[in-house]
Amino acid sequence: MSQTRILALVGSLRAGSINRQLAEAAAQTAPEGVEVDIYDGLGNIPFYNEDIDVAGQVPAAAQALRDAVAAADALVLFVPEYNGTIPAVLKNAVDWASRPYGAGSIKGKPVAVISASISQNAAKWAHGDTVKAVGVAGGSVVESAHLHFGTIGQRFGEAHPREDAEALTQLAAAITELVAARESVNA
Ligand SMILES: Cc1cc2nc3c(=O)[nH]c(=O)nc-3n(C[C@H](O)[C@H](O)[C@H](O)COP(=O)(O)O)c2cc1C
Repeated sequence: MSQTRILALVGSLRAGSINRQLAEAAAQTAPEGVEVDIYDGLGNIPFYNEDIDVAGQVPAAAQALRDAVAAADALVLFVPEYNGTIPAVLKNAVDWASRPYGAGSIKGKPVAVISASISQNAAKWAHGDTVKAVGVAGGSVVESAHLHFGTIGQRFGEAHPREDAEALTQLAAAITELVAARESVNA
């Protein structure tokens, strides 16, 4: 069986991001034959602007994201919550991947959404808004692969999520669901 490539987009740019650490743990725990690559460079992509989204002249950072999304078999989005919703950097990535209209690289791509924040609400507002945006953008949201991590400051403040057996089990299950959804799309 060929390798399944999953692209992880992380909605926090900070070096110590726990969402990024969760993505790292997902990469570590992915089953045999599945590769999870964390996309670096979301912070370099200009804000979406139709005036600069011109065929053949798309900014390199935006084109690189589109190419990476197109090359992936599925996406997993790691979403913190900023002021009750999706962080701008992640929404910007979804917007770039949604165009050209009707033919964006996210179209038909299986997408899992995993949210994590310091509150007990576990970034569920941001999660819901991300699911909505991904669906409108044309992605195929995989509900069975969703996860929510709350009170992450306490839970992962001292230890990386890769040292948390329960988190690893949950992340492995989510990735397995995402791969299964991708295989059913291709069946
Ligand atoms: C601008 C800003 C707004 C935030 N708003 C929320 C919020 O609405 N709800 C919440 O649970 N956490 C909120 N937080 C706290 C984040 O949950 C916390 O910083 C979390 O660790 C971010 O994820 P990261 O560790 O991957 O960077 C906010 C943080 C920032 C910087």
